[in-house]
Amino acid sequence: MLAQASPWHAHALQRTAAGLAEPLSVPARMEWTTRPGQGPGAEILGPDLRGKRLLELGCGPGHNAAHLATRHGSHVTGVDLVGLQVRRARSHYGRLNNLTYVAGHALHYLHATDEQFDAIYSVFGAVGLVAPELLLPAIAQRLTPGRVLAFSVPHPQRGGRSPSGDDRPRRDHVTLPDRTRLPIARWEFANDRWERHLSRAGFWLTSAQEFHDPRMGHWPTTLLIRARKL
Ligand SMILES: C[S@@+](CC[C@H](N)C(=O)[O-])C[C@H]1O[C@@H](n2cnc3c(N)ncnc32)[C@H](O)[C@@H]1O
Repeated sequence: MLAQASPWHAHALQRTAAGLAEPLSVPARMEWTTRPGQGPGAEILGPDLRGKRLLELGCGPGHNAAHLATRHGSHVTGVDLVGLQVRRARSHYGRLNNLTYVAGHALHYLHATDEQFDAIYSVFGAVGLVAPELLLPAIAQRLTPGRVLAFSVPHPQRGGRSPSGDDRPRRDHVTLPDRTRLPIARWEFANDRWERHLSRAGFWLTSAQEFHDPRMGHWPTTLLIRARKL
């Protein structure tokens, strides 16, 4: 797991060098896919998010967390492994109320906190990058029964790949802004394998949607999974 710190650090470093982390206006939509404007928004996390406690695992520059805190009045915590990303998120949105960005590994944050959340989500974040047999039970521990876990991951069939035939991670790459590719490990499950892991951790899978991006050919690019804590 620690081996993954350096590609994500390099990614954040190049992003930070590429532009000033200035205050940004809050995005009007929550984005789950690679194509802005496509697919559902925040509604899949619950019907009324006002005053609800939400946790994002792998928040990066913090756009979705800022949207949820400002446009929906939720209390949002965004966790990211890389301190530089958290710093960037705070420069963009640190002025907003009900929003906290924390540096840390998703699994360690979940183990250390004693907060209960009303929804937990990840958008190309920690879910899929951390062993599901560890991460999903840790999420279940911190989520109120009946509430939603939602996560999007790169689709396991993107670019004509095939999903994992076992529970082990695969080698994938992070592409940095300068086009360098650094290796990472990623769990590339099809829906039925996610369903099995979710069910083992105490979740009921309620939907699995796939999305395309015409710029990326005819294969699906994003898998969005929604589950409820039993
Ligand atoms: C592809 S970015 C997505 C960022 C953001 N969710 C978005 O949609 O813009 C993946 C993020 O996950 C973070 N990350 C990777 N492994 C993590 C872990 N184990 N715990 C927390 N964050 C992690 C990385 O530092 C990176 O910021």
